[in-house]
Amino acid sequence: MISVNNVTLRIGKKALFEDVNIKFTEGNCYGVIGANGAGKSTFLRILSGDLETTSGTIVITPGQRLSVLEQDHFKYDDYSVMDTVIMGNARLYEIMKEKDAIYAKEDFSDEDGIRVSDLEAEFAEMDGWEAESNAAMLLNGLGIDTDFHYSTMKDLDGSLKVKVLLAKALFGNPDILLLDEPTNHLDLDAIAWLEDFLIDFENTVIVVSHDRYFLNKVCTHTADIDYNKISLFAGNYDFWYQSSQLALRQQQAANKKAEEKRKELLEFIQRFSANVAKSKQTTSRKKMLEKLNVEEIQPSSRRYPGIIFTPNREVGNKILEVKGLKASVDGETLFSDVNFQIEKGDKVAFLSRDPRAMTALFEIIMGRRKPDAGDYDWGQTITTAYLPLDNSEFFETDLNLVDWLCQWSNDSSEIYLKLHSPIAAQNSFILALAPMPSTVSVSRIPKFFNLYKLRPKPSL
Ligand SMILES: Nc1ncnc2c1ncn2[C@@H]1O[C@H](COP(=O)(O)OP(=O)(O)OP(=O)(O)O)[C@@H](O)[C@H]1O
Ligand SMILES: [Mg+2]
Repeated sequence: MISVNNVTLRIGKKALFEDVNIKFTEGNCYGVIGANGAGKSTFLRILSGDLETTSGTIVITPGQRLSVLEQDHFKYDDYSVMDTVIMGNARLYEIMKEKDAIYAKEDFSDEDGIRVSDLEAEFAEMDGWEAESNAAMLLNGLGIDTDFHYSTMKDLDGSLKVKVLLAKALFGNPDILLLDEPTNHLDLDAIAWLEDFLIDFENTVIVVSHDRYFLNKVCTHTADIDYNKISLFAGNYDFWYQSSQLALRQQQAANKKAEEKRKELLEFIQRFSANVAKSKQTTSRKKMLEKLNVEEIQPSSRRYPGIIFTPNREVGNKILEVKGLKASVDGETLFSDVNFQIEKGDKVAFLSRDPRAMTALFEIIMGRRKPDAGDYDWGQTITTAYLPLDNSEFFETDLNLVDWLCQWSNDSSEIYLKLHSPIAAQNSFILALAPMPSTVSVSRIPKFFNLYKLRPKPSL
């Protein structure tokens, strides 16, 4: 168990948390949610001991091991992948290294003999002989081929490094696992594997994520950071969201009769009591539902901005037709014989295990690259806009925000741009709300949303 006792954190004069009291217990997975900048990452750093509180304490049950998903992608550059993962259990790694050093000695003294036998005993007790195969299992599960298991970290690309750091955090069955946005940069297969891993994990997990699908799958509890407080709900993200919406509705309908409110609450409870992430949580969930009083729930202070594309003109039925497209790089075929048709109203997500294939497809249909074979044809009514994977060229300019936005707008008045960029003010998010040309709406291009530079993480 890890408990947070009367914790307050001030940064300068501003209090990020005030008097927070929470206990995180075994068998539960806590999803930490909150708007951008609410303090989720900071809270995890406090829990891990990386950041001191202004007042209050964090207490971990003695003997329990806490493990954290590290964010520094270069820290282990000089180590092998296997060593990095095993370092997830610091004591085990220390024993392995000390043993190796003693065995490598040419003059092996009696003292060394005693020391090494003590180490061997501790090593066996910690399941040390299984360490490499356990680490390999985690790496394979996350999609890292056995060929890479003994590579040096610095030779891995960014996305593989992220997976190794995740395997490191998960290694050795920690008692408390802290994960800050673990699904960032993971492919769909790795996310699915992580979900299964966390559902089966029997100890305590505290995870920050902006991915509501992931949170709904893995979380038994939701910790919401809002109003400088952290409120705990026995349920997943949907449960938190729905109860907060219910609270808002009931607060707005102040004159609604008590009886009607009670009925609405009971219906809500019934709907959610059938929906539990883990069966063993049923009891705590039932207790929580029995005590649930909507009046005590503060409606969330979060706003949920929407992105609405309004085309300049109504589009025709035909959006795009692709026939027999082929692309390759250095003689390696990325895709061939790709045929599809997109019609008005379709919403299409493109997925590929090879990011080069995805980029090639979009570069081709935007006319920035020639296909090896095949053809494509946009509908008569279509104009296009494109946000490439490498978007740095957009930012190589000294224009101010309004002038920069003007480049994509028919109406260049500042008032219009500000009105149409409400998120810009809140979130430094700039491009998406510039009115888009009549087009295959950019929202169909999944990469658009994956572009970190232009994308605020959605606030859950
Ligand atoms: N060392 C620091 N000095 C000054 N301000 C800081 C420091 N660390 C965090 N902050 C501020 O504290 C707030 C919380 O930051 P934090 O990174 O914890 O938010 P978050 O909820 O994780 O946001 P996101 O969803 O964007 O990851 C922010 O306003 C941030 O600017
Ligand atoms: Mg954060």
